Amino acid sequence: MKNFKRIGVLSSGGDAPGMNAAIRAVARTALSHGVEVMAIYRGYSGLIDGDIKPLEVRDVSNIINKGGTFLYSDRCPEFKTPEGMQKAVDTCHRFGIDGIVAIGGDGTFRGATDLTAHGIPCVGIPATIDNDITSTDATIGFDTAMNTVIELVDKLRDTCESHARCNVVEVMGRGAGDIALNTAIASGATAVIVPEFPHDDDSLCRKIKRARELGKRNFIVIVSEGVGSDYAPALAKKIQEETGVETKFARLAHIVRGGNPNLRDRVLASKMGVYAAEELLRGNSNLVVCERKGKLVSNEIRYALMLDKMYKKTLKDGDLDGFSEEDIAKMKAEIAEKKAELLDLFTVENKINL
Ligand code: ADP
Ligand code: F6P
Repeated sequence: MKNFKRIGVLSSGGDAPGMNAAIRAVARTALSHGVEVMAIYRGYSGLIDGDIKPLEVRDVSNIINKGGTFLYSDRCPEFKTPEGMQKAVDTCHRFGIDGIVAIGGDGTFRGATDLTAHGIPCVGIPATIDNDITSTDATIGFDTAMNTVIELVDKLRDTCESHARCNVVEVMGRGAGDIALNTAIASGATAVIVPEFPHDDDSLCRKIKRARELGKRNFIVIVSEGVGSDYAPALAKKIQEETGVETKFARLAHIVRGGNPNLRDRVLASKMGVYAAEELLRGNSNLVVCERKGKLVSNEIRYALMLDKMYKKTLKDGDLDGFSEEDIAKMKAEIAEKKAELLDLFTVENKINL
């Protein structure tokens, strides 16, 4: 173990159920190694402002089961400026913080890699309901969020059935259709619309009309927010106009980000928290903890960020400089795997939701 005296832990970006479990695991792991832990409140904003307090073992009691993040979260544009970064580094020196575990999404990891380059070693833990970090099979919060979606859609289905209605339901996910694809299957939706695959609204309307003629009373259509914010309400209107089926629109939005984490997220967060703290204390940094095929591994943050860019086709000239042929081949394989997984979900959904 490296000679760390004190580390910090923060949560940043969109909150996710399970963040508390990760904070608890980071704190308890470091403390058990005799390393002090500082709670950094409000993500990078708290790092800039010095909103920091020591964390003891009992300070993280009774939080493993709680949603949100007791360290609070923030989006902090100032952190992206050279002045903001300097303030954050100065705060670390002032509080004697030797390294940081940063819990959040890709924006948080960009911040963590910058901070590492400025001499404060960081390790990232992926926590976002969107599951949009390609290097990990799952992010903390994704599973709970999906379970919340199906619970809510089940309720909508009850009332749709009573009133012979259709409900178009928009779910979060930023640019990723993972939440929508999985929950459409699990809630028996009539259709799913995600940014990753083409959609044909006219044929969906024909399908609903035909099914109504054959006696089907309720229809659920799940739309991922990544398709565009005006899309889902407009689709609801179109379905009603073209099929004659009364159609409601529901945007589940942030309600899906709250609530107690389920077992899967508590365990994943606890495992990742222990792993991240031990990586940092071993002297490893600029890493993000990932789960691949049930095993925890760590990837360079830059690898994870470029993998996401390659997946989203937003790579710029020079982004892959410094990566070996082998790394690039590994990236391509990971992307092919992720795409195949999503296609499988889409295919299953289309086959069974007639
Ligand atoms: P998430 O971590 O969920 O993706 P954001 O994209 O909002 O959420 O990022 C969280 C915070 O991380 C931002 O408010 C900012 O402080 C920091 N951050 C994001 N992008 C960068 C960047 N390019 N450089 C440095 N810090 C960044
Ligand atoms: O990244 C998590 C997420 O909830 C996305 O699904 C959504 O697009 C975004 O954050 C909403 O962010 P905000 O908290 O700023 O409304």
